[in-house]
Amino acid sequence: LERMSSSNFLEYRGCLFPAGHYEIDSLEYARNEFQVRKDDIFSITYPKSGTTWMQEILSLIRSDGDPNVSRTVPVWERIPWVEVTSLRKKAEAQPSTRFISSHLPVHLFPKSLFTSEAKVIYTVRDPRDILVSLHFFSRTAGFLDELDKIEDLLPKFLRGEVLFGSWFDHVRGWLGVRNQVNLLLLTYEELFQDLRGSVLRICNFLGKELNEAAVDSVVENATFEKMKDNTMCNYSTVSKKHFDVQKSPFLRKGISGDWKNHFTPAMSESFDAAYKEAMKDVNFKFIWDQ
Ligand code: A3P
Repeated sequence: LERMSSSNFLEYRGCLFPAGHYEIDSLEYARNEFQVRKDDIFSITYPKSGTTWMQEILSLIRSDGDPNVSRTVPVWERIPWVEVTSLRKKAEAQPSTRFISSHLPVHLFPKSLFTSEAKVIYTVRDPRDILVSLHFFSRTAGFLDELDKIEDLLPKFLRGEVLFGSWFDHVRGWLGVRNQVNLLLLTYEELFQDLRGSVLRICNFLGKELNEAAVDSVVENATFEKMKDNTMCNYSTVSKKHFDVQKSPFLRKGISGDWKNHFTPAMSESFDAAYKEAMKDVNFKFIWDQ
């Protein structure tokens, strides 16, 4: 990690954060002082796993399917991050029920979660698709090194030398506490295959009853096409310095299995070996493990 802590990254307790957007003080505050409330709802993801999608879905569920808020308020203000310096106060100051996003691995998450009944939705995605998505995102994001080849990003990804550290650590960490916290595990792939069914599962978990028309509206407004055109969640309003969506759109392709278009047999081989080793003690089968 030492090698990787270039000017772009800040290292905190073994995890890398894009410098500028994150500060040690805010990360320490999040971990040690942020007071989780029993009715808080957290959406937790490793980057590029469908974070924005889940934020949009939750936001629409919160407004009973009314798309008005989603069309007028930026998604990062609707469901702000607990660890982002500029948004932490917004996350904190919400009246109950608070909806809060986080990319934090479990060991850096607000400790008070573990003595609370707060709800956590943890969304996981096939790491091969994350890698591809991250590669294109490195064109969009001014704070990431742009690598020409996905092949060059693969070894870094497998070593955890990317933003928010190792995917394996993130997933193993959160799966490890899934029986200690009130956690709903979802995958990008489930959202992709059955958005309506996933919305219903989320509503059920949150204890939120929506009528048919409201569910229809959540689904309709959380489709890739709708979100791609919504300036309040496609990151087109952010300064080009941070996100240049002309270089590569934030909502890029929106499918599962795109890795098959980008992985060479050698990449697959090296990924599979690393995955098998890192996940050998994980007692859980994902849809892509079948
Ligand atoms: P791709 O780059 O594979 O297209 P995050 O929000 O965690 O950064 O994840 C971004 C990824 O989620 C991008 O993946 C983006 O296109 C995808 N995504 C966002 N909204 C989506 C939607 N409504 N349907 C499908 N994919 C979506």
